[in-house]
Amino acid sequence: MTTTIKVGMLGLGTVGCGVVARLTQAAAKIERMQGFRLQLATIAVNHLNAPRPVQLPLGTRLTDSIEAVVSDPTIQLVIEVMGTLTTAEHAIEQALCHGKSVVTANKDLIATAGPRLVALAQQHGCDLYYEASVAGGIPILRTLTDSYATDTIQEVAGIINGTANYILSAMTTTGQSYAQALAAAQRAGYAEADPTNDVGGLDATYKLIILSQFAFGQRLTVEQVAPTGITRVTAAACQAAAQSGWQIKLLAQAQRHGHQLYCRVAPVAVGNAKPLSRVAGVQNGVAITSQAIGRSLYTGPGAGGAATANSVLNDVIVAASHLLAGTRGRAFNRNQANLSVANLSGQPQAYLLFSHLPVTVLATYADEERFSLKALSATSYQTSTLTAVQCRRLQATGAITAIPIAGSVAWSAQSQPQVVSATHVAI
Ligand SMILES: NC(=O)c1ccc[n+]([C@@H]2O[C@H](COP(=O)([O-])OP(=O)(O)OC[C@H]3O[C@@H](n4cnc5c(N)ncnc54)[C@H](OP(=O)(O)O)[C@@H]3O)[C@@H](O)[C@H]2O)c1
Repeated sequence: MTTTIKVGMLGLGTVGCGVVARLTQAAAKIERMQGFRLQLATIAVNHLNAPRPVQLPLGTRLTDSIEAVVSDPTIQLVIEVMGTLTTAEHAIEQALCHGKSVVTANKDLIATAGPRLVALAQQHGCDLYYEASVAGGIPILRTLTDSYATDTIQEVAGIINGTANYILSAMTTTGQSYAQALAAAQRAGYAEADPTNDVGGLDATYKLIILSQFAFGQRLTVEQVAPTGITRVTAAACQAAAQSGWQIKLLAQAQRHGHQLYCRVAPVAVGNAKPLSRVAGVQNGVAITSQAIGRSLYTGPGAGGAATANSVLNDVIVAASHLLAGTRGRAFNRNQANLSVANLSGQPQAYLLFSHLPVTVLATYADEERFSLKALSATSYQTSTLTAVQCRRLQATGAITAIPIAGSVAWSAQSQPQVVSATHVAI
């Protein structure tokens, strides 16, 4: 007889409805391939009577009590797809304390309270999986764990916020202003009513924190990443960069040099020759550089009900298999390191400058600061290597926007006092 595993779910919104739909569609395949059945027993929601775009399976109960899911002794596994911080954290704690494995898509929670919840899961011999928390439909966390088991990762660079990427792509291709592109993203359902975390870089930072844990075994903090968002990027800058061979992307980066891990979330100019530059619209992309594989790029949908639900259900299947095999309790990420962390923005590197200041004024700045400047258009320039201090001084004028050029860090100069040799101004 086929074993049935009873699953409880918290939340029935975009992802939750995707889970219901996919589970219904894939029920026969799951039974055939895995040898067990997943039964959605109870789903907790906020508004019991809200209309839902999916038909619940026969026998699935809807409740407005989280407690009814996390403490039901017949439920063996809990899916958390309601979002929130405190409520979700408490619910996951309760589920784990009741011996239930948990699958969540909640990056905010995993980035901020992950280590505590992972420890709690271990303590109770449960699984805690969160594949969908980074890059939605791209199975990047399990890839990092399973497919890089013998490899050493040097760099992870990701376009991991679909909202920001949509806005920057629209500004580049249509010339829409930031406000117009954001409004279009909201109309298309690609941006939330309050897009602060997406456009401010915090969402990408949460995902980078999780990615870095898997890629390098190193925990980052929001303060270390110190994200810069896209709100001050202009369409003129995006278009001028594109005409000269770069795409401006909100890039989340972590790269290892010796015992140092450098991280950054900021708008960065990505050269057209780099595959990441072609990750457009709401798509996500994660580029990994490693010793054995070399360069690889993983692209796909970073959000959306069906794609995200697929990641959630893959986690559920792994957790259910462990439950049946009696092998629960191995941490999702087992990579641990103790690196010192610095921000990539502190390193000497080249920039694209955007400014309406007269060329002669910029040339004077370049002379004073001893760097070279190449004009790309009437209002955009490419610099030679600048130190962080030089860059800050330029930005402090209030009339110059500086966007770092991806891959331009002068690593050899990092341990020496800053030497900027070029003194000519090529305007
Ligand atoms: N949307 C995506 O594409 C995507 C991608 C990756 C990760 N995620 C993550 O997945 C999670 C869910 O996202 P979503 O887009 O599906 O959210 P959503 O559409 O806003 O749905 C949230 C669901 O949670 C329920 N809920 C909220 N607070 C609750 C509470 N206190 N008790 C019981 N139910 C509660 C809501 O109930 P009502 O419906 O009754 O209001 C709703 O069904 C978030 O952590 C998000 O960051 C989403």
